[in-house]
Amino acid sequence: MSPEDRSNTSTQPAPGGTADLAGKPVSRIGFGAMQLPGPRVWGPPKDREIALAVLRRAIELGVNHIDTARFYGDGVSNELIHAALHPYPDDLVIVSKIGADRDAQAAWIPAQRPDQLRAATEANLRSLQVDRIDVMNLRLHGPSGGEHDTDQHVDLDSQLAEMVALREEGKIGAIGISTVTAEQLIQALPAGIACVQNAYSLLDRSGESVLEICRENDIAWVPYFPLGSAFPDIPKVTDHPAVVEAAHGLGATPAQVGLAWLLAHDPHTLLIPGTSSVQHLEDNLATADVHLDAETMATLDAIG
Ligand SMILES: NC(=O)c1ccc[n+]([C@@H]2O[C@H](COP(=O)([O-])OP(=O)(O)OC[C@H]3O[C@@H](n4cnc5c(N)ncnc54)[C@H](OP(=O)(O)O)[C@@H]3O)[C@@H](O)[C@H]2O)c1
Repeated sequence: MSPEDRSNTSTQPAPGGTADLAGKPVSRIGFGAMQLPGPRVWGPPKDREIALAVLRRAIELGVNHIDTARFYGDGVSNELIHAALHPYPDDLVIVSKIGADRDAQAAWIPAQRPDQLRAATEANLRSLQVDRIDVMNLRLHGPSGGEHDTDQHVDLDSQLAEMVALREEGKIGAIGISTVTAEQLIQALPAGIACVQNAYSLLDRSGESVLEICRENDIAWVPYFPLGSAFPDIPKVTDHPAVVEAAHGLGATPAQVGLAWLLAHDPHTLLIPGTSSVQHLEDNLATADVHLDAETMATLDAIG
């Protein structure tokens, strides 16, 4: 599909309906771009054409919320998003994140000094070729910063001050925060928080107290690892016997059951499941058609 062939907005209804993200209506089922680069989220995809097809199919099917980071593949996710979708649809909300980076061995490292936050924002602007990132998440790394490297003991208020400055300068449209504790989120609220991205799924409810703060403050809750991620050491929602049984009973896939539970659990939830497969993308978006009855919901609630 050439840029000329692309319409500016999808004609499809938004998968899962719409909800507010930073003042814009987005599809409740969006797309996370972390599975597009190569293995360990590093280097080019196994098949570039498939990666581009996943992104274009997402837009065709009504997705208008894409989550990315420049450090996914060291620029690979952003480059693919640009190659597949630029000029971007008018209604597309691109969300990125800063506060982390990769070292030469591809290990995930913090990058939280204000100068690093600013440099990473500029790198996102350049790689996505936009004047402004719609929403930028500040990626934290634990209750105390949790860092070994002393130059990464940056107090949260200094990081938030830089995020506010970036927003005032128009380089980012809104501030999100990620991997945040309840205490850190309360501390961050005065900066104006549009969304929270924490690890959370049917099998991992550790973020429930943070979700409660999102509810109270009408903040979008965007769980990452909604299916249990691609990392081998994290339990997979799709493997849980109760999920598999519920899927069988409903004529759905286990992934759809896990995602449908998240959508039903709280109306502030926006999904960004990650996939490198067009088929899985289509399945995930079709979650919108899966209805969990009260009995199934109670069974799934009890897992957590
Ligand atoms: N804020 C943060 O710090 C942070 C951290 C991590 C991730 N994120 C964001 O959150 C998004 C979601 O997290 P994630 O991608 O790490 O994990 P995830 O969505 O929980 O799971 C991705 C894994 O599930 C598989 N999968 C996807 N759809 C499937 C389906 N329908 N059936 C079976 N398997 C399926 C994928 O494999 P296939 O590729 O084979 O489909 C991949 O292995 C990321 O893409 C990223 O944008 C944010």
